[in-house]
Amino acid sequence: MKINGRAYRTIWELPNQKGVEVIDQTKLPHQFVSVELTSMDDAARAIRDMTIRGAPLIGATAAYGMAMALRDDASDENLDRAHDLLLETRPTAVNLRWALKRICDAVRNRPRDARFNAAWDEAKKIADEDVEVCRRIGMHGLAILREAYEKKSARGDTAPLNVLTHCNAGWLACVDWGTALAPIYMAHDSGIPIHVWVDETRPRNQGASLTAYELGAHGVNHAIVVDNAGGHLMQHNKVDVCIVGTDRVTANGDVANKIGTYLKALAAHDNQVPFYVALPSSTIDWETQTGAEIPIEYRAATEITHMTGRMPDGTVATLAISAPGSDAVNPGFDVTPARLVTGFITEAGVCAANEDGLRELFPHENTSPPSGERQRARKAGER
Ligand code: MRU
Repeated sequence: MKINGRAYRTIWELPNQKGVEVIDQTKLPHQFVSVELTSMDDAARAIRDMTIRGAPLIGATAAYGMAMALRDDASDENLDRAHDLLLETRPTAVNLRWALKRICDAVRNRPRDARFNAAWDEAKKIADEDVEVCRRIGMHGLAILREAYEKKSARGDTAPLNVLTHCNAGWLACVDWGTALAPIYMAHDSGIPIHVWVDETRPRNQGASLTAYELGAHGVNHAIVVDNAGGHLMQHNKVDVCIVGTDRVTANGDVANKIGTYLKALAAHDNQVPFYVALPSSTIDWETQTGAEIPIEYRAATEITHMTGRMPDGTVATLAISAPGSDAVNPGFDVTPARLVTGFITEAGVCAANEDGLRELFPHENTSPPSGERQRARKAGER
């Protein structure tokens, strides 16, 4: 996407396979700076401290991290060590495990001296595929937004289409385009009047700092709201559609995403507002049956008790905002049950938020037998 007229991806290769460069998202929206990652440890640190974040971008960065590890030592021991170290950086986004497995599968049966190039090429494929996958998510989501706008206009309502989104599932969370924001960009570019309610998304404010930054740079009409405002806006018919991203969708269709997503889904359900989840197939965890099994990341209390912002003199500072001495507990994600999700917007099309819907779009991905068959087999086994 473009910043000040210049096209950017969130991650790009340095010359001579020296490493990669990424936009430092901890400095946004106050400073647009990039940092070089020239080792596996750099990549792991950038994921852990959220220099980069967002499920698809975490996957792409980890893939390059693996390649850089193999550049330094292409042994099986180092392959496993790098895999395990990168895997433990953040637990919820399944793209991390997906990307690490792809690199291991691409190199494990290769001679050591071929592993670095094979891993680097696979990481590049993962990044390039993500751009095309997100563009296709945008196209399938555009159809949903266009239909919603046409329905609204047909009711004689001349207001723009109001879309609510939570956290940042834009191009900054991927390699380009984004997931939840891709349909919004395409709707805007195709002339559909659109207005976005941007949840600030405490405690790290990915909405207020990253989503608002992206939408502003693309000229999309938007307003930041506190996380607790969405229900009220829905009760007053100010939200036509909700679109969010996800860090992991389980085989039954449950959705893990930034903390607060579940409450938005409940409010949408209570007010008959369509609630869509946009995702690449790399975010589907076919090995995990239900949301209750998803590991939820807990992060530092200081993310809640302190906040970073720009001072009047332009300097960026972190301030304490809570009562001194009080503890804070910081779950980073929650799980929205499939029953509250209107549908999934994927690169292969739109489907119902359930196992059958996902299997229809991705028949070759889930090798385990359908839950019905598993239940029957289990009962037969119990007899
Ligand atoms: O903690 P973050 O910023 O990595 O959380 C990101 C989200 O929850 C996004 O919604 C999700 O990763 C989807 S990104 C396309």
